[in-house]
Amino acid sequence: MDYKELILKLDQTALPRHVAVIMDGNGRWARLHRMQRLKGHKKGVEAVRKLVEVSVEVGIKYLTIYAFSTENWRRSKLEVNYLLKLIMDSLVNEIEELDRNGVNIRFIGSRKELSDSYNHRVIDVCRKSWHNDRLYLNVAMNYGGRREILEAVQAICQDAQAGKIDLSMLSDEIMNDYLYTAGMPDPDLIIRTSGELRLSNFLVWQSAYSEYWFTEILWPDFDKAEFIRALLDYQNRERRFGARWKG
Ligand code: IPE
Ligand code: IPE
Ligand code: MG
Repeated sequence: MDYKELILKLDQTALPRHVAVIMDGNGRWARLHRMQRLKGHKKGVEAVRKLVEVSVEVGIKYLTIYAFSTENWRRSKLEVNYLLKLIMDSLVNEIEELDRNGVNIRFIGSRKELSDSYNHRVIDVCRKSWHNDRLYLNVAMNYGGRREILEAVQAICQDAQAGKIDLSMLSDEIMNDYLYTAGMPDPDLIIRTSGELRLSNFLVWQSAYSEYWFTEILWPDFDKAEFIRALLDYQNRERRFGARWKG
């Protein structure tokens, strides 16, 4: 069944508001096709384009994609540099199309290890899309869930010292305001490709009640139909948030 037919099966009233995707398996895809790892990353960009298109088409409001983790610096210098450049080039190349499609894009993650010029360039390019409200796209770049929590705790401590907040009033809501995802709903659905069954430091705080969906498909092969399959599976689940089973 092609993705257009699959879309018709979706319940438009029960879409996840926020979908987060761990795009994994580029290296294995390249090996399978007897190519260099880097070619797998390049091919992965095409899958990102399809994912954004189908998210707009379906009406997803928030989409977060894991592009580079705080742990990915452990890879070879060649691969790290390639990824940094690929992510920047893709942003620059796609921004006009993203803007046309009503996508509001921002990078979330730590700025620490990235150069000032990289960080400024990202903001400069993304800014062009900030009037949009059809789809909010977060690119998790130099992102680590633990780092995010630590940076939030540091900022909270600073604000407490400055008398801006009262620590005895700390709540989930206040914590949310200090995360990179401030003002956004938690991810309802987290998708991971390539058969790995772990979170790898993604959205550690925000995923407390997320539904997970795993597929063996390697990221460069992830297509629109597979995304709709994940949404359909999500719609068959009963989310209880600790309350009793309604069956
Ligand atoms: C995901 O693909 C992309 C990033 C982590 C940047 P991988 O590069 O992790 O691919 P595998 O897991 O080695 O196949
Ligand atoms: C997670 O994938 C990070 C991204 C997709 C950017 P990894 O391939 O880095 O995760 P591990 O090392 O297998 O857990
Ligand atoms: Mg991987």
